[in-house]
Amino acid sequence: MNILVTGAAGFIGSNFVYYMLEKHPEDRIVALDALTYAGNLETLEEALENKNFKFIKGDIYDKKHVFEIFREEKPDIVVNFAAETHVDRSIEDPGIFVRTNVGGTQVLLDAATEFGVTRFHQIGTDEVYGDLPLDRPDLFFKEDMPLKASSPYSASKASADLLTMAYHRTYGLPVTISRCSNNYGPYQFPEKLIPLVIYRAENDESIPVYGTGDNVRDWLYVMDHCSAIDLIMRDGRDGEIYNIGGHNERNNITVVRRILEYLGKPESLITFVTDRKGHDKRYAIDPEKTKKELGWEPETRFEDGIGMTIDWYLEHRSWWEHIVSGDYQNYYQKMYGDR
Ligand code: NAD
Ligand code: TYD
Repeated sequence: MNILVTGAAGFIGSNFVYYMLEKHPEDRIVALDALTYAGNLETLEEALENKNFKFIKGDIYDKKHVFEIFREEKPDIVVNFAAETHVDRSIEDPGIFVRTNVGGTQVLLDAATEFGVTRFHQIGTDEVYGDLPLDRPDLFFKEDMPLKASSPYSASKASADLLTMAYHRTYGLPVTISRCSNNYGPYQFPEKLIPLVIYRAENDESIPVYGTGDNVRDWLYVMDHCSAIDLIMRDGRDGEIYNIGGHNERNNITVVRRILEYLGKPESLITFVTDRKGHDKRYAIDPEKTKKELGWEPETRFEDGIGMTIDWYLEHRSWWEHIVSGDYQNYYQKMYGDR
């Protein structure tokens, strides 16, 4: 099978590529990524050695290029990870989020409709449901809850979900959507909470915690997300939405303290800073549908996963140092400049 993976040079997309190359060596993966500031081709260095893997630099919003890729590569399945993903950036500059997350998804949906695929899988997020109050631990996000996005990021992702469902209903495009909680693990861009805390603590720099640090996120180890996507895109029911999460709720300050403790760094590094605008209080996924229909279970407990993640960042210092210094942006030129 030919699988087109967009956003494959980002955090979850790259982990998904490695998951797939190992789990399904019979499949061929074509990666499409614009290599924005969040895309890092160094992350795919090992994959580039694999004969079942092909990388194409391109923008999902570029209709001509996307149609050419569909014509040539004839993907059976499309998995759309490509997106602008950082909430704080969406608050500063919403336009690019609408362009990529809504406009780019629409171009991919057009191409999938025109050329035909067996499945278009849209990577969604639990942030489309809005947030839950801190004093109602009995409440969880369910697939049929109304969309109530808070940030320009989550609003653009909600729009992409609606478009995906509209293409299913209007044009009969075979689609599935998965909505996952916060991921953590190797290759996460160090602007997101967990890698940011790790690298700043390693450099003995202050750790910015928004507000009082009581916001709750439901953390899932990235490989557990990948295994769920693999199941949903193959065996999920056409036109259905699946929530993915592992009931690993922690408030931010607890996560930050745990990382500092693991690294042997002092809590005096913590600096409480002005809260994010419109900051969602609590995310918590009910993953029962995915478990029941597809037999999916997360394998990694937060306590194990956070240790594995911190160890990975300590062992791959040059990976994040290249990002912090900006060197990673020269890698494409180095690898492909003369080709
Ligand atoms: P990321 O920011 O690490 O990676 C995004 C990738 O998309 C980058 O490689 C970037 O170069 C690429 N990209 C951006 N604009 C593009 C464009 N116009 N054309 C082609 N490629 C483009 O993001 P991530 O954390 O890996 O998230 C991947 C997907 O998963 C996103 O759709 C996100 O909404 C969703 N998601 C993320 C989380 C999380 O915790 N990180 C949780 C749930 C859902
Ligand atoms: P983030 O990793 O940006 O993911 P999301 O906003 O999509 O959940 O942030 C996770 C939580 O950590 C969120 O509640 C905001 C908070 N946060 C901080 O307190 N300090 C930071 O420097 C960052 C990046 C996030």
